[in-house]
Amino acid sequence: MERRGLGYKTGLEVPAVGVGTWRVLERAAARGRRAVPDLVDAALDAGANLFDSSPMYGEAERLLGQALNGRREQALVATKIWTPSAEEGARQAERALGWFGGHVDLYQVHNLVAWREHLHLLERLRAEGRVSAIGVTHYAPSAFDELAKVMHDGRVQAVQVPYNPLEREVEREILPLAADLGLGVVVMRPFAEGALLRRQPDPGALEPLEAYGITSWPQALLRWISPTRAATWSSPPAPGSTPSGPTPPPPADRPSTTTPDP
Ligand SMILES: NC(=O)c1ccc[n+]([C@@H]2O[C@H](COP(=O)([O-])OP(=O)(O)OC[C@H]3O[C@@H](n4cnc5c(N)ncnc54)[C@H](OP(=O)(O)O)[C@@H]3O)[C@@H](O)[C@H]2O)c1
Repeated sequence: MERRGLGYKTGLEVPAVGVGTWRVLERAAARGRRAVPDLVDAALDAGANLFDSSPMYGEAERLLGQALNGRREQALVATKIWTPSAEEGARQAERALGWFGGHVDLYQVHNLVAWREHLHLLERLRAEGRVSAIGVTHYAPSAFDELAKVMHDGRVQAVQVPYNPLEREVEREILPLAADLGLGVVVMRPFAEGALLRRQPDPGALEPLEAYGITSWPQALLRWISPTRAATWSSPPAPGSTPSGPTPPPPADRPSTTTPDP
């Protein structure tokens, strides 16, 4: 698995493909007692050891924490605060820190909810060594102006945004700004929540990409996101979707460098 610096300011080196935990872990848990640990095993074996979670994802943080029990040090945990209340935010952080062995690698404010209040908490936790880096996330282009303001403020080291061939709004301001400021970029929704996988091209159409180590449509989509060694993203590791081999040239209509090149 290719590894990259997550921007210049987080101090984190992360895999090119990580594991998003929205719906994924709860569904696995419903399949049986071993299913979540088996999923985490498979991710760690593949080198996809960055896990993204949130209190918004039901039981996901707890399930991840339990599955990492005894091997927390092999993983990088990104999770989030998600509440309008500073008091509840502090409770969420204490719970998460309990599940993740007292440390969160990337602590994000989910959807910018009450971000001013929560950044005070996260800055304190970072000063205490319980958090390595701080980020903010949003899924909606209507929030990108506010997201850009937070980025300019200098209090966060990473952002998480949607990016795929159907959702390219971040190319206008957010990705260039992250590059200028040296912020890490975690990409959510690499497959447009599955919409890009419902109809797949004929396998023959992918043949020209074989020289670049790309043999499946999910793999091609992941490579589309990051033609330079620029961004990282979170998604369940799809079989055969690990980028490997030389990097293909970006399509002509896309910027070739959008986020920091470590
Ligand atoms: N969506 C958001 O607004 C949002 C917001 C903040 C953070 N995030 C983070 O980003 C992560 C990923 O985003 P996402 O789950 O929304 O979108 P996504 O990764 O773009 O799409 C997930 C969907 O793709 C399908 N899929 C994955 N690999 C596949 C393959 N090889 N073949 C066929 N289908 C495949 C999954 O199918 P199955 O259902 O069969 O597994 C699932 O329905 C989340 O888990 C979360 O950590 C997302």
